[in-house]
Parts: sequence; structure tokens; C-alpha cells
Amino acid sequence: MSREHWEEQAANWAAWARTPDFDAYWKYSPGFFELVPPPHGRTLEVGCGEGRVTRDLARLGHRVVAVDPVTTLIRLARDADAGNDYLRGDSAALPFADGSFDLAVFYNSLMDVDDMDAALHEAARVLRPGGVLVTCSCSYHVSDADFLEMLRSAAADIHRNVRLLEHRGQAQDHPTVLGIPETHYLKCVICSV
Ligand SMILES: C[S@@+](CC[C@H](N)C(=O)[O-])C[C@H]1O[C@@H](n2cnc3c(N)ncnc32)[C@H](O)[C@@H]1O
Repeated sequence: MSREHWEEQAANWAAWARTPDFDAYWKYSPGFFELVPPPHGRTLEVGCGEGRVTRDLARLGHRVVAVDPVTTLIRLARDADAGNDYLRGDSAALPFADGSFDLAVFYNSLMDVDDMDAALHEAARVLRPGGVLVTCSCSYHVSDADFLEMLRSAAADIHRNVRLLEHRGQAQDHPTVLGIPETHYLKCVICSV
């Protein structure tokens, strides 16, 4: 979806995301946070929207810098949380030096960026060697094999290996139907880079 679309829908997205028990986040995010490595150094969230993932990471003790290209969403995120840094930025050109973070998180955002490959290259670049990338998004249009290859190649371009720590799909109540590849829609990967 375009940045203009997110800008237009920013207030609606915040109302959606902040209504208790309204969307899947409320049911599935606790399981996701159990997989996220414990706080260590600096954490980056890419595609933070109005900030709920960053606020929940902060509750777990993470010190987070969060980016999103949409001005209104960044303003809403800052208004709701003075304790973490929210910056306007694009996943294809993250405004950080090489090796700045220990952990990078994409939650429900990688399917929305214009250039997934560039986003993964940038995430690998801003992670310190051995830093952890966590990505959990409904990228149903990209196969598992293509997604893992994108990750491998992003890391290889900066002479790094990817070590898979977790590789999951959606929960059991949304089973993949064999023969219908798009039903395997969730790509959840935790890896060191
Ligand atoms: C479905 S929302 C998810 C927000 C948040 N991660 C959550 O789970 O509540 C997707 C977000 O991706 C952001 N996004 C779109 N294109 C992006 C890009 N090129 N770089 C970073 N974020 C982007 C959108 O602005 C939007 O905030």
C-alpha cells in the first residue's frame, strides 16, 4: 500500500490498532513476543505505525528506535509514548549507520513496503554482526523459499551468514492448505545475521 494511503488512513489505523481485542494483534502478539529475544542493546522497529509494537517491546524492557515513513503515524506514536524514539524513515534507506542495532523487528509491515528486498538489505546493514532480525508479516505473495533466499542474499551482500533461530508460519487455527500456496501467508523468521 502506498505511503499516501497510509497518510490518509493514519487516524483510522490508530483507532483500529488501539481498540482492545479488535484485530488479530491482541490474540497473536503475546505468542510473537515470547519468540522475540530478550532485551540486549538497541532495538529497531521498522514500519511501526502508531507504535503499539514498540510500546509492547518497551514493556518487555527493550530500548527502541522505531521508524515509519508516514508523518501522522509518527506523530501519533510520539504522542502515545515519550519513552522511545519515533523517526520518519523508509525501510529502503534507514537513517542509521552500519551495525547500529542488536535487534531489528518487522511486525506486520514487510508486506506493505514498496521494496522488500531493499528493506531486508537495510535491516542486515544496520544490525551489528550477529544481531538478530525478527520478521513476522503476512507476505502471502512471496513463497517461503523466495523469502529465505532474499534474506540469505541480503546478508551475503555484506559478507554475513544467516542462521535461522525460528522459522514459523501462521497459527494452527489458520492452517495452510496444501496445493494452495497463498494460504501459507505468514512468514515468521527469527535469525541472526
Ligand atoms: C499494517 S501497519 C503495521 C504497523 C505496526 N507494525 C503494527 O503492527 O501495529 C504497516 C506499516 O508499514 C508502514 N510502511 C509502509 N511502507 C513503509 C516503508 N517503505 N518503510 C517503513 N514502513 C513502511 C506503514 O506506514 C504502516 O505503518
